[in-house]
Amino acid sequence: MFLTDEEKRMRDGAEDAAVAAAMDLLIRYGRALDAENLCDIRNVAGTMTQPTPVKARIVKEYGWDKAFAVINLDSDEDFEVPDMRVPTCQLQHGFGQDALGVVPYPMQNIELQASAESFYGRHGVNILATCTPYQVGNLPIRGEHCAWMESSAVIYANSVLGARTNCEGIASTGAASLTGKIPCWGNHRAENRYGTHHIEVSVRVDNFQDWGMLGYFAGGVSGEDHPVITGDINVPDLTDLKHFGAAAATSGGVELYHIPGITPEAPTLEAAFSGTGPPEPVSYGPAERRAVYETLNEIGTTADVDFILLGCPHASVDQIRKAAAALDGKRLSPGTELWLMAPRALKDVADRSGYTRVIERAGGRVLADSCPAMSRAAPKGTKVFATDSAKQAHYLPAILGIEAWFGTLEECVDAAVTGRWNGGLS
Ligand code: F3S
Repeated sequence: MFLTDEEKRMRDGAEDAAVAAAMDLLIRYGRALDAENLCDIRNVAGTMTQPTPVKARIVKEYGWDKAFAVINLDSDEDFEVPDMRVPTCQLQHGFGQDALGVVPYPMQNIELQASAESFYGRHGVNILATCTPYQVGNLPIRGEHCAWMESSAVIYANSVLGARTNCEGIASTGAASLTGKIPCWGNHRAENRYGTHHIEVSVRVDNFQDWGMLGYFAGGVSGEDHPVITGDINVPDLTDLKHFGAAAATSGGVELYHIPGITPEAPTLEAAFSGTGPPEPVSYGPAERRAVYETLNEIGTTADVDFILLGCPHASVDQIRKAAAALDGKRLSPGTELWLMAPRALKDVADRSGYTRVIERAGGRVLADSCPAMSRAAPKGTKVFATDSAKQAHYLPAILGIEAWFGTLEECVDAAVTGRWNGGLS
């Protein structure tokens, strides 16, 4: 793999031991991928503060510098962590102090995370604590090379923003944060960013639920490739594309898609396929839409619902406002809990706008930093949950061994108020 003089100097320890270990990791990683070179980046979204038992053990015995070396740089060496070289943010992690008494979540995790936030904050990590960094200030520009983790964020960055990132891991983002480099392969290269599958929509897709179902279908069709969507779709907004991407990255491993005329790298269908002409389209019509809906509801058999989960990926302000409007003047059924997950910065907006108060008056909670899937935590005794998120409907039953219903925000709120699932595909 070609290295610049600057990269060789970093590798050889001209800066410090931590940077040398980071460069060593990136070189090993790049060679394994057959990358020709490293690209310069100035935007990392990774995870350093998420509490885990391994991290707790290392920190207790050796401290945070060692934990970073072992977990975030795959190194046994002893060194002090320098400041982040490029803008770096923490993605979602565990629940914080304010979730105490609401979420059954271990106090030792909350304490470890608070200690981590303090350590990494001092080293220049922006604690955004959300799976949607693009909603709260980390907004890479078109063509910008990044090193991001979190599949729902990666697909948004690539497809909606036109930034360039592969789905990175804990160690590669750790190394990128100290070097401003990442192997230049996959989505970083223009020739790898064209469409591979053509999905023609022949049933109207014009709301949040529909965009999630279409995304789930697109992921199933495309696997890890790049679907291109055309047909009977409205112009999606941020929340629609957030849901679409998260679902496509859940049922498949999609990191990049195009919607001609809407996403930035596909002004036309031809451009989406690099002028080679689109392949034979796969149809998404009423039958396919119903099949996706039934798949997402196949784990739901019991109509009594204990738990409603909204905000996956973390909610926009507009989603919080809509949830508040739907819950205004209502009261959750006894024994039913409702959590809405949001970035902490947007929860602050919701607090100031009065939305949180309305949701709490109904008996629900707006929570930040994490989610039930990430932290493996739901209200005690939950057997059946309902959600408006295709991603949570897919993952949470397997993670927590519970039943799932997938529907609209209105159906979820109705379930929260009645304690019963009355949803159905319209
Ligand atoms: Fe975010 Fe959790 Fe969903 S981290 S994307 S709310 S599974």
